[in-house]
Amino acid sequence: MFAQKISDALYYVGVNDRKNELFERMISLPHGVTYNSYLLVDEKVTLFDSVEICYAEESIDKIRRVLGERKVDYMILHHIEPDHSSGIRQYLAVYPDMQLVCTQKAAEMLQGYYGVTANIKTVDEGEELSLGSHKLKFIFAPMVHWPEVMMSYEQTEKILFSADGFGCFHTLDGAIVDRQLNIEPHISEMERYYVNIVGKYGLPVQNLFKKLADYSIDTICSLHGPVWQEHKDRVMGVYDRLSKYEGAEGVVIVYGSMYLHTEAMAEAIACGAHEITKNVIVHDASKSDVSQIITDIFRYKGFVVGSPTYNGAIYPRVQEVVERIEHRGLKNRVFAAFGSFTWAGQAVKLLNEFGQRMKYDVVDPIEVKHAMQGTDDYNRFYSLGREVALKCKN
Ligand SMILES: Cc1cc2nc3c(=O)[nH]c(=O)nc-3n(C[C@H](O)[C@H](O)[C@H](O)COP(=O)(O)O)c2cc1C
Ligand SMILES: [Fe+2]
Ligand SMILES: [Fe+2]
Repeated sequence: MFAQKISDALYYVGVNDRKNELFERMISLPHGVTYNSYLLVDEKVTLFDSVEICYAEESIDKIRRVLGERKVDYMILHHIEPDHSSGIRQYLAVYPDMQLVCTQKAAEMLQGYYGVTANIKTVDEGEELSLGSHKLKFIFAPMVHWPEVMMSYEQTEKILFSADGFGCFHTLDGAIVDRQLNIEPHISEMERYYVNIVGKYGLPVQNLFKKLADYSIDTICSLHGPVWQEHKDRVMGVYDRLSKYEGAEGVVIVYGSMYLHTEAMAEAIACGAHEITKNVIVHDASKSDVSQIITDIFRYKGFVVGSPTYNGAIYPRVQEVVERIEHRGLKNRVFAAFGSFTWAGQAVKLLNEFGQRMKYDVVDPIEVKHAMQGTDDYNRFYSLGREVALKCKN
């Protein structure tokens, strides 16, 4: 396979992973993912990150075709999560003399995971490294989304090598740079990537934005997905909005339902919400992909959740959704709970307590014994949907 040129000096030597079905053995990958790596050829030859072990040979092959007999002088390691580092020993077998440039925390991980201790050059925040006509400056980005993460800014071409930051799921199907692509599928996979991988770390992402304000950026080279140039502002906007936990106008209704009593309530709520807004999404928690459910909850301001009582508790598939939301500390939502029970209701009470714990704007919950009965009941759920949607306007 061949490297692809991004500029006169910069090559893409990353890979597509079309095989892995679950990122971090948990998050679905319907459109695959890339592990990006970049090669900068100047007086010094610099490799920016490496790829997952199964793909190391493929990436090394691309590097060799660019370099021929030339060697790699530096490998910059921005992030040591194994999707970017597990192939390290294969790279070292080919380029044993290259210096590994990383943070002190990253160096500890390299030793702990791979026993790699030689030729490591640790750097500090703000330190610079000259590569010839190109010059790097290191920007630490702790907890975006691991503690050892740094980014580097290349001053001549104004490139930000951003680690996982501004990354997304989705393979690169031929083209690498955003202006050659229909970016919409990448943007929606960026939202799902952000929410599931980075979602808990809104504050560290906001701290990073404060640092990046000092830099003029023309190109973003992240570790997953396209190289961003034309659409870099939009992409930074996605990360900014999600890390501020801002929701757009709209309502997401998530429910679990074994015998369709709770589902009927969800339908009534959706109709009421639709009277006010076009943006209404209904998810059956037993069917929809949980990574997509929580992404939609991050997108919109209204969050309505329904569950039957199940062994004195919330229905497990719904419980999983609220746990993931609580774990990520999602803020600023208009919230309501609803559901069905038969002998001793608990689920709606527990869901309502979740909404209060999260300090949401909580609309009065509705719990019904058995099933909705007639128009009066229907209207109560319809009104609940309407009320939540109204509160989400502006
Ligand atoms: C395994 C199981 C456990 C249940 N546990 C409770 C319970 O603890 N308290 C209760 O009031 N109802 C309980 N129910 C009854 C359901 O809450 C009731 O059937 C409800 O209407 C189901 O709503 P759905 O049609 O939306 O699934 C249980 C039902 C099942 C199947
Ligand atoms: Fe990562
Ligand atoms: Fe990654």
